[in-house]
Order: sequence, then structure tokens, then C-alpha cells
Amino acid sequence: MEIHARYGGVVPELASRRHIETVGFVVDEALKAAGKSLDDITAVAVTKGPGLIGSLLVGISYAKSIAYSKNIPLVAVNHLKGHIFAAMIENDVPYPFISLLVSGGHTALYLVKDHNDITLLGATRDDAAGEAFDNASKIVGLGYPGGIIIDRLSKSGRADFHKFPRAMISKNTFDFSFSGLKTSFRNYITGETNEYLEKNLSDIAASFQEAVVDVLVSKAFKAVDKYNVKGLVVSGGVAANSRLRERFYEAGEEKRVNVYIPSKALCTDNAAMIGVAGYLDLGSGTTEYLTLNALSRYYI
Ligand SMILES: Nc1ncnc2c1ncn2[C@@H]1O[C@H](COP(=O)(O)OP(=O)(O)OP(=O)(O)O)[C@@H](O)[C@H]1O
Ligand SMILES: [Mg+2]
Repeated sequence: MEIHARYGGVVPELASRRHIETVGFVVDEALKAAGKSLDDITAVAVTKGPGLIGSLLVGISYAKSIAYSKNIPLVAVNHLKGHIFAAMIENDVPYPFISLLVSGGHTALYLVKDHNDITLLGATRDDAAGEAFDNASKIVGLGYPGGIIIDRLSKSGRADFHKFPRAMISKNTFDFSFSGLKTSFRNYITGETNEYLEKNLSDIAASFQEAVVDVLVSKAFKAVDKYNVKGLVVSGGVAANSRLRERFYEAGEEKRVNVYIPSKALCTDNAAMIGVAGYLDLGSGTTEYLTLNALSRYYI
């Protein structure tokens, strides 16, 4: 994280080099923590995409070498499916459910009837929710990663301090748009004095956060209503947001919908979610061997 913070975001070349340096140690550490050796492993799950191609290739090459040398199946996993099924690590979520995926690069709603029967209902037309948090933090000079910084700051702020736009909240679509919010936030910030901003920073952060969360809550529960499901999974890095978690759990209780949000560490990128999604796919016989390649764009 520190190597990217200096540049205000992830630098692809630095990320892939760091992957090469660390992948072996990370795998060794995971095996040690589980009290297992490579000989105990019966399959390898690896992210095929979407993502930064250099980093994906490092993971794929490493996974291929394990699968080849141990003669075990290699399962290619969609990163977004990993985020969705992260919810299965701590809960046995019954199908069908609505999934709201809110991450650094994606914001989407899915109807999930089974791990292999996923329908996209809507997605962002421009910025992702995580990107909106990262941009807002950058605009006020607070740095990267923005989501955690805005979350922390908002805890002491008033969410009704300023009304930022809730784009497409009442439109009859499951698509999202966050670029208008970014522009509105930037215009607001540039229109105020430094003294005013410093004094009211936590209120401004809380108001911004509320605008994002309002839209997400509203659209997700509309999807739950429309498809008449009992469960809602919220995952991806933005689902680590404290206010988001509070609002979703509250609304779930009020509307009698079972809301499942993975614990914070399982919301942001992690290997366990790829393991679970790979395990589900392995059960249905999807295996890829040494021809596997990475895809920077790869949708469900
Ligand atoms: N507490 C939080 N509140 C709001 N946003 C958060 C919080 N913690 C992390 N985020 C946001 O989550 C994003 C990172 O999440 P994640 O690791 O799922 O994204 P990614 O893997 O980069 O993107 P994608 O999964 O779409 O490829 C960042 O945009 C970050 O600002
Ligand atoms: Mg991710």
C-alpha cells in the first residue's frame, strides 16, 4: 500500500513487480498458518481477471507451476465472482439472492440463482463507488486509499451538513452513476475557503459518504423487491464502509431482508474469496490447465 500511496493510486508496473517479490512468501505463510504443505493441496484457484494484466499474469504463472508440478486441477476464477462469494466464507447464504458489488473498479447489481447462474441487473455508467471515495479524498488532499480515510473522518461528522446529488436514485433502472457526484463535490470544495473546509471537513466527508450510501441502499433494496428474494449480499471494498454496513443492516431489519456483508477484511481484495469461488466452480467441473491466460476485462 505504501508504495502506491506516494502516487495517489496503484501503479501497475510497481504492483506486478511487488507481486513477483512476494507471491512465494505469501503462499508459504498461508500454508504454514493452515498447518498444511503443498502435498495436501488438491486444486489451485487463481484469478483470471478482471484486473491489472501484469499482476494477474504473475498469479497465473505461479498457480500453473504448482498445478503442473503437483498434477492437480487449476481453476480460473473471475475476481468479481470472488467478491460476491466472499459472503459464503462466514455464512451459508441461501439462493437466490441479490448481490450488490461495490469495489474500487466496479459497482453492479446481480441476481444470483446459483454460483453459475448470475444475471447482471445494472452497473455504473461511469465511476465506481470506490473510485468516488478515492476521488473525493484526493480532491480534499487527504490521499489514498480514500474510502478508509473518508470513513474515519465521517465518524465525527454530520451527514446532513450538505446535500450532494443522489444520481439516478429514483430512475427506473438498476444502473448507477457517480461522476456527477464527483463534479458536484469538486465544485463545492473549490468554491469554499481553506479555513471553512478545515473547520467542516468531517461534516463534508459525512455528507459525501451519505450521498453514495443512499443510492446504494435504495437501488439494492429495489432489486430485492422486484425479484422477490429474501437475501441481499453486499461485498467489495466499499462494503467495508462503517456507515454503509450500518444502513444496510438497519434497512434489512426494517424490510425483513437477510443482509449478508462479509467482515471488513473479506470485503477488500483477499485470497480467501478466490478460494471459495474456485471451490464452487471446481464442484461443477470447470477446470483449466496450462492454456489459461489472463483477461484485463472479464465480466460475469
Ligand atoms: N471503509 C471504506 N469505506 C469506503 N470505501 C472503502 C473502504 N475501504 C475500502 N474502500 C474502497 O474500496 C476500494 C478497494 O476495494 P477492492 O479491493 O474491492 O477494489 P479493487 O479490487 O481495486 O477493484 P475491483 O474489485 O473492482 O477490481 C477502494 O476504492 C477503497 O477506497
Ligand atoms: Mg477487488
